[in-house]
Amino acid sequence: MRSLTTSFRPARRPTGTAAALTGLALATVMVPAVAQAEARPGGELTLYTTREVALVQPLLSAFTARTGTQVNTVFVKDGLLERVKAEGARSPADLLMTVDVGNLVDLVEGGVTQPLKSAEVEAAVPAHLRGADGQWTALSMRARVLYADQALKAGPIRYEDLADPKWKGKVCTRSGQHPYNTALVAAMIAHDGEARTEQWLRGLKANLGRKPTGGDRDVARDILGGICDVGLANSYYVGQMKSSKPGSDARKWGDGIQVLKPTFAAKGAGTHVNISGAAVARHAPNPAAARALLAFLVSEPAQQLYAQTNYEYPVRAGVALDPLIQSAIGPVKADTLPLTEIARHRKQASLLIDKVAFDQ
Ligand SMILES: [Fe+2]
Repeated sequence: MRSLTTSFRPARRPTGTAAALTGLALATVMVPAVAQAEARPGGELTLYTTREVALVQPLLSAFTARTGTQVNTVFVKDGLLERVKAEGARSPADLLMTVDVGNLVDLVEGGVTQPLKSAEVEAAVPAHLRGADGQWTALSMRARVLYADQALKAGPIRYEDLADPKWKGKVCTRSGQHPYNTALVAAMIAHDGEARTEQWLRGLKANLGRKPTGGDRDVARDILGGICDVGLANSYYVGQMKSSKPGSDARKWGDGIQVLKPTFAAKGAGTHVNISGAAVARHAPNPAAARALLAFLVSEPAQQLYAQTNYEYPVRAGVALDPLIQSAIGPVKADTLPLTEIARHRKQASLLIDKVAFDQ
């Protein structure tokens, strides 16, 4: 399952290259201790990524400039686990990078990872965004927010509220079985229990303004088209749409909505987030280099550049958001439910979504 789309990435804001280059220069100049914490590994490193190479390339270049380690990047669109499994002990992969906690847990359960053992990662990334067993770490976050009609009065809202009959015929979302939604439902099961989550799903289905289909940006499109007032969607698409060419449909959609930050109803709960992340490969030929790259990726300048390139949220505290995300959404209070809990409930979530025939 991949995230950012080919069609939108090149349309990012015109200053993107300059910003990336500035970030690159920053990353090159201002990363003293991070990558040096482990002895300079030198040599080569092979990165398997399901993320588009363009999204990570500026960071990899900065890492190479810093450490002298060449990074061979292999874009694995589908079947990352199957490929690494099939390669076995001969796999050239040192680091495995993907999106969605479920995919990372699949790598661990598939036996193709090894413990990270990185003091830098443990210091930079909160525990709820790392594998409980130390087998993977998040590198960036995306929030599951609500796009809403600009005429709606903004105020505190909970995911659970979307099942309220007052929203009848006014809610849009993509397929319930898309991993973005199964993760949200899994988190709700962890917070509210299965019975209440089933009731919620039934209420949400009854409130849909159209069949759950299409992508997250279509939620913005359909809000502008008057088909719905509110809908579930990921945060980074807001940056993608708002940086699209002036006059384009995507730009109109991005500029035509407001973004609400729902939380779960449970006391102290926050906004549902999912991640991009990485794990050191079990048979990594150069695990020291893999750990050095991870330490670099969670360093402050790398986090800033990564977040700006992808319109995502940094996992490291105190790192500035992309200006578009800052103004359109601002900081989110990320739910601190361990991501491993979400992964644990995803099968249950998927069965529940089928049980209520959500997509029918
Ligand atoms: Fe996506």
